[in-house]
Amino acid sequence: MGESLSGLKRNIMCGELRTEHIEKSITVMGWVQRKRNLGGLIFIDLRDRTGILQVVFGEEINKDAFVKADTVKSEYCIAVTGVIVKRESPNENLPTGMVELKGESIKILSESETPPIYIKENLDAAESIRLKYRYLDLRRPDMQKIYMIRHKAAKVIRDFLDENGFLEIETPIMTKSTPEGARDYLVPSRNYPGMFYALPQSPQLFKQLLMVSGFDKYFQVAKCFRDEDLRANRQPEFTQIDMELSFVEEEDIISINEDLIKKVFKEILDVDVDLPIRRMTYKEAAEKYGSDKPDLRFGMEIVNISDAVKNSGFKVFQDALSNKGSVRAIKVENQAAMGRKDLDRLTEFVKTYKAKGLAWIAYKQDEIKSPIAKFLTEDEMKAILNDMDAKAGDLILIVSDKDKVVLQALGALRLELAKKLEILKDNKEYKFVWITEFPLLSFNEEENRFQAEHHPFTMPMDEDIQYLESDPGRVRAKAYDIVLNGEELGGGSIRIHNTKLQEKMFKVIGLSEEKAQERFGFLIDAFKYGPPPHGGLAFGFDRLVMFLAGTDNIKDVIAFPKNQNAFCPLTEAPNVVDDVQLKELGIGKLS
Ligand code: AMO
Ligand code: AMP
Repeated sequence: MGESLSGLKRNIMCGELRTEHIEKSITVMGWVQRKRNLGGLIFIDLRDRTGILQVVFGEEINKDAFVKADTVKSEYCIAVTGVIVKRESPNENLPTGMVELKGESIKILSESETPPIYIKENLDAAESIRLKYRYLDLRRPDMQKIYMIRHKAAKVIRDFLDENGFLEIETPIMTKSTPEGARDYLVPSRNYPGMFYALPQSPQLFKQLLMVSGFDKYFQVAKCFRDEDLRANRQPEFTQIDMELSFVEEEDIISINEDLIKKVFKEILDVDVDLPIRRMTYKEAAEKYGSDKPDLRFGMEIVNISDAVKNSGFKVFQDALSNKGSVRAIKVENQAAMGRKDLDRLTEFVKTYKAKGLAWIAYKQDEIKSPIAKFLTEDEMKAILNDMDAKAGDLILIVSDKDKVVLQALGALRLELAKKLEILKDNKEYKFVWITEFPLLSFNEEENRFQAEHHPFTMPMDEDIQYLESDPGRVRAKAYDIVLNGEELGGGSIRIHNTKLQEKMFKVIGLSEEKAQERFGFLIDAFKYGPPPHGGLAFGFDRLVMFLAGTDNIKDVIAFPKNQNAFCPLTEAPNVVDDVQLKELGIGKLS
């Protein structure tokens, strides 16, 4: 059965009904959450995206409607017309719980089989089933709430950027490889057999071209595609709030984006973000937190204790120090009593970050326990405890090695301990930080050359340009990331608009003139025609919505996401295509 509307119109949503609607005649449409037959009365909880309304059918109210209502089952799609009345036993837990709808007529718009997942909040079902039946998963109220937040966040951002003079301009999806450093998704061309379009990893080059065109404030809610290993905060297809501005420097971009963040958090969460947002150089973040996206909701900062142990008899420390490495530590308050098993587990943990071991000092009330105590004099031990500002009851965890290994291992250990000790359990803070002064280049050991950290159009800091050729590793970039609670929300930079400097940059990263021309010739050419100074930033919109919706899984905020293997269980993409299609594209079968 699937009755037609035949002119029947919905005139209010289920979740909107309140005592002010009592005695009003209304029509609602939605899905049956559940039905109870109590003899002479049938109760239906009717659900639409705004909420649930109790509908009551009775033999005395309308016999035909009562009989028909008895045939409905969960998830039938129905329309009910009747009068709103005061509910005899109010339900305080339901916003509509003071009233109910006396059902005078019912249309069964469509029937439903028993759904493979429950349509309810906090569903505990396998992800594969949820993704396969995503349209039902999205019927669940907690999922619907997320998409209302996502919609509202996009609207707040669009309105803000519009009010600030930005123009939304679309850039192509079928394009040429963009330089964001991940693998491209490719689309074969029929007109040019053997040739491919690339899906954009970001609108980077086009937004720079738009600056050359004179659209001095651009933005786009942009789909981006990156074929990379997926994690809880990464999808192959995701959305950026992408922007670019002309005639600006870092401060201008940071400032407008702080206002934007403030507005979004106020309007969606009613949270006041204090401005200006804290800033931290990349160097400080790396040295204190072992990360370029530090979680500042808790301390446990990394401390360099190399000086305190520089004369110690512990060979491991000596070796590290004489190899230009360091000895660093974190202090875990009140954990001096941590058991051996747990300490062994932490040692195994840092080994996954290439540390060779983990030394510990348990500063107990009456004694100091440590496997390295025998290598340290009393003064050295005192100096360590002093450097760490340790109190009785604290545990010190030490790694020595090359700086990179030490910082990465301790940075990861810090996060692991916060998780293990549930330090952030009831934490409701939003700790933003701008990370600035990123290195412009990093050395790729496999390819034995420098490569751009952000992308090759990023401007070096003025005072470091002089080292671009002589000491590329020390050049810092006019690049910045915005980090929230240990997640990179967005990032951007000021771009090079000086052709000579750009050529130098290509040279430093080992990109020959021909190669540069082949890859980015159109941008290089465009820059011959008066490019304005410009820069920009892109937020990962999905990541932003994760915070606004309070979820730590990016799949929750993307209506039709891919699974961990970049597969869509709903449509079963990617999938085989007809031989005819392959032939047209000039692509042979693999097997
Ligand atoms: P970047 O590569 O840092 O910069 O990307 C900007 C932001 O996009 C988000 N992001 C992702 N979100 C979900 N899944 C992914 N696979 C994924 N990859 C990135 C992150 C990140 O901070 N064109 C430059 C921006 C610029 O310079 O203006 C760019 O794309 O939140
Ligand atoms: P050993 O003398 O080899 O038993 O080591 C004594 C302690 O030092 C053990 O707790 C090891 O885990 C620790 N250790 C070994 N290598 C390192 C290192 N590179 N950094 C910090 N501690 C280490």
